[in-house]
Amino acid sequence: MARIIEIENLSKDYEKGFWKKRKIRALEDLSLSVDEGQIFGFLGGNGAGKTTTIKLLMGLIFPTSGTAKILGKDISDISMHAKIGYCPETPYFYDYLKAVELMDYFGELFGLDSEKRRQKTDELLTKVGLEKMHWNTQLRKFSKGMLQRVGLAQALINDPKVVFLDEPMSGLDPIGRREIRELIAGLRENGTTVFMSSHILSDIEALCDNVAILRDGKLVETGNLHDLLSQSGEARSFEINLKNVSVQDLEQEVSKIIGAELISKPNGANVHVIDEKDVEKILHLSKQHGGQLVSVQPTKQSLEELFVAETK
Ligand SMILES: Nc1ncnc2c1ncn2[C@@H]1O[C@H](COP(=O)(O)OP(=O)(O)OP(=O)(O)O)[C@@H](O)[C@H]1O
Ligand SMILES: [Mg+2]
Repeated sequence: MARIIEIENLSKDYEKGFWKKRKIRALEDLSLSVDEGQIFGFLGGNGAGKTTTIKLLMGLIFPTSGTAKILGKDISDISMHAKIGYCPETPYFYDYLKAVELMDYFGELFGLDSEKRRQKTDELLTKVGLEKMHWNTQLRKFSKGMLQRVGLAQALINDPKVVFLDEPMSGLDPIGRREIRELIAGLRENGTTVFMSSHILSDIEALCDNVAILRDGKLVETGNLHDLLSQSGEARSFEINLKNVSVQDLEQEVSKIIGAELISKPNGANVHVIDEKDVEKILHLSKQHGGQLVSVQPTKQSLEELFVAETK
């Protein structure tokens, strides 16, 4: 499998203050790689260094030290830009352009002829779900969600092999998020590699194959999302859902089980236990009080729990 992105010991200091004396280390010694065909999730709290990394990769700012390659080419080699797409964090385009004009402009930058530009504009604005009645509206009248959609469409105009999306879901309502989520999943099906940052962990969980978590400019975790969640899933627990039994019936016995938790539910109770052996005990106990079993579910650690643990 081909390596699409290779980052080696990348660091970035921003210079601040009047004499640029003060340095802020926004990224420290980042090394990671992304394989072809993946959706790679780049996570971290506010100010962790996600946008800095993406801007470095896009050649918009320059590294203090370290190197990175995209599609085998050094990031200083702009010829590779013909094969990549980029949607910035808060897409800001020339306000007085209409959506179709913006697409045309980017199409021209990539050397598409006018017929091809028109065809790609139609295809992509439809794909990102921008309503046709807004295609000829000036961008200054667009909502945040609409700008985000145009930003995505623009990033895809050259049929890129890899796209870099900085917070592609921000500003979208739940329906919009679902549409864009499906669009990103569709990119993978067409063999496009996606590198995306997001704050919305459920989107990352639903979409990404591999992830990296940044904290204060440093990489704290990277790997296959499923492996990361099950590795740290040693603290797995079981959720037992019971009906026709009350918390009061179970309270006394359950309090003797280490790590067990009781939650009241309408017409029943939920019990969390850590040890699988305790599931039997709870079922027995519930039966004694006339309770019935609804379900038993192993609960895996969620990405949110992992994220909170890693970014603390
Ligand atoms: N142009 C700049 N000049 C000085 N410091 C900057 C600049 N851009 C970013 N920083 C600092 O670098 C650090 C990393 O910022 P960055 O924007 O990369 O974080 P982020 O992970 O994208 O955060 P967010 O989730 O809020 O978008 C922060 O401490 C930020 O204040
Ligand atoms: Mg950012």
